[in-house]
This record gives sequence, C-alpha cells and structure tokens, in this order.
Amino acid sequence: MTEQALSSRHLLGIKDLSVQDIQLILKTAEQFKEVINRPIKKVPSLRDITIANLFFENSTRTKLSFELAEKRLSADIINFSSSGSSVSKGETLLDTVQNILAMKVDMIVVRHSSVGAAKFIASNVKAQVINAGDGTHEHPTQALLDAFSIQKSFGKIKGAKIAIIGDILHSRVALSNIFCLTKLGAKVRVCGPPTLIPKHIMGLGVEVDYDLKRTLEWCDVANVLRIQTERMELQYFPTAREYHRFFGIDLELLNSLKNKMVLMHPGPINRGVELTSLAADSKQSIILEQVENGVAIRMAVLYLLANKT
Ligand code: CP
Repeated sequence: MTEQALSSRHLLGIKDLSVQDIQLILKTAEQFKEVINRPIKKVPSLRDITIANLFFENSTRTKLSFELAEKRLSADIINFSSSGSSVSKGETLLDTVQNILAMKVDMIVVRHSSVGAAKFIASNVKAQVINAGDGTHEHPTQALLDAFSIQKSFGKIKGAKIAIIGDILHSRVALSNIFCLTKLGAKVRVCGPPTLIPKHIMGLGVEVDYDLKRTLEWCDVANVLRIQTERMELQYFPTAREYHRFFGIDLELLNSLKNKMVLMHPGPINRGVELTSLAADSKQSIILEQVENGVAIRMAVLYLLANKT
C-alpha cells in the first residue's frame, strides 16, 4: 500500500481536497478493489483503530459500505443510529458525540440532515471525522466512488462529458460530484427542471441545459439523481408523473439515442420517476458497480486518514 498521505486529517467535503488528494484516494482504492476481490478479503491495516459510525439520517449503501470497509481493514467498530437513541430525550449532537468518544474512539463517520454537521463536530473534538452526507451540502465518498466508477467504465475523467440530471437543488451528491469532476478536468453539464437547478450553479464551472434528450445526446456519462421529496418544502413540479414525462429516462429514450452513454445513479432509485426499471437495469447501467466500488473507496479513505493521525 501507498505511504503517501492526504493533506487533511478529516474528510469533510470534496471542496477542501486537492487534485493530488483525489488522485491518491482513487489510486489507493484501485489496490483495495483488488483486495476485496481476493478469496481472503481482510487486511490488518486498521487493527488498532476504533471507529464510530454515527447515522442521524437514514442510509443503506453508505452505512453498510463504511461498516464493511472498516471490517475488511480489521478496525473495531460501533454503530449508532439516532432512532432508538437518547437523541429522542433531547441530547444534543455534541453531547452525543462526546459521550461516544469517551469510549476511546479514534474516528467518526457521520451522516446528518444539517449542513455543516461534520465540520461542526470536527471543530469541537479530537477524533478524525468523515462526512457521510450533511444535508444538501456534500457527500464526498459518493463523489469519489462515482469518479472511480467513471474511470473504470468510461476509461478516463479528464475531458469526459458528464451530465448530472435531476434534483440538483437538494442534492449533496450533485455538489460533491461537481467539485470532484471539475477538479479532475471533466466537462460537466447539469440538467433538470428550472425549479430544481439553483441559479448560482454556473459559478461552479458547469453548463446548464433544461432539455433532457439534448443532454443525453451530448454526454459520455449520465449520473441521474433522486428526487428528494423529503427535503422539499415547496412544490417544484406538478406531479411525479409530469416529472417523469420530461426528465425521466426509459429504455425507449436510451435506444433512440445514437450514443450509448454510461448510466449511473447514486441510489436509492425512485423507480418509474427518474428511471424506469428497464433503464435502471439495462446494459448501460453501472448502478451496482457503483455500490461495489463504494467499499473500495471507503477502505481507501479510512486507510489514508488513519495514516494521518
Ligand atoms: N447513495 C447514498 O448515499 O445512499 P444511502 O442514502 O442509502 O446511503
């Protein structure tokens, strides 16, 4: 394994990472992908490290792949979910974290619905912090696994035309992907209804298009995002059916295009809204490869941060 180090002792967002940091994580994940495809998938790298996975918001992929990555690296782990915890009795975020850290924990993986939660924790405790998604802000390990998956399936990121489609306004995946892909030299275009594309987005170096077919014809890779109804306080489109009519992708649409772009989705999918089942499960889809790559990326991040203590 590499002896190189990341420039920060936390992973709070892609915005803070240098191109060298991102490339180091992608290169290290390559080695861990090879490890997790061996008959014996476990290495002793994090034998003396204790990690707490703190999930204040629901998760399937991120939570389980961090847990598996930690086990593959031989770390000791504890898992916390806010549902069923003393948060319901009014315990504050910082009190919860400090009580868990009193059990001699070295590293925290945290998902929270509030923007800046991971940064707030990192500024108030000694443990290392990894952001597993903070509200509508960032989801750095998702962007890293998406970049890794693009590299594997399309062959390169620099110069690749990558479309991010759907609910850009509420998506931490969109923001982290934009930071990551533009740093790595991709051409990024966002596409969705005008109500779900924030006005400031062009300032981040991306193009905007409100026409789905034109965007799909342009791109090498389409990363389709979930409509995040749980974060919507207003009505941004009339109905899910109407959304699907203009921004949903089905097999007929995919087959009508001359190009065969790589189709991605971070999950969970609203089947029949962003993607029909036939599109999500088509040959162009690498959705389950993204999930597989998530374990290798999270092993790389944990390993590199543990070397930074
Ligand atoms: N992609 C993603 O973050 O999925 P989960 O919410 O299931 O972790």
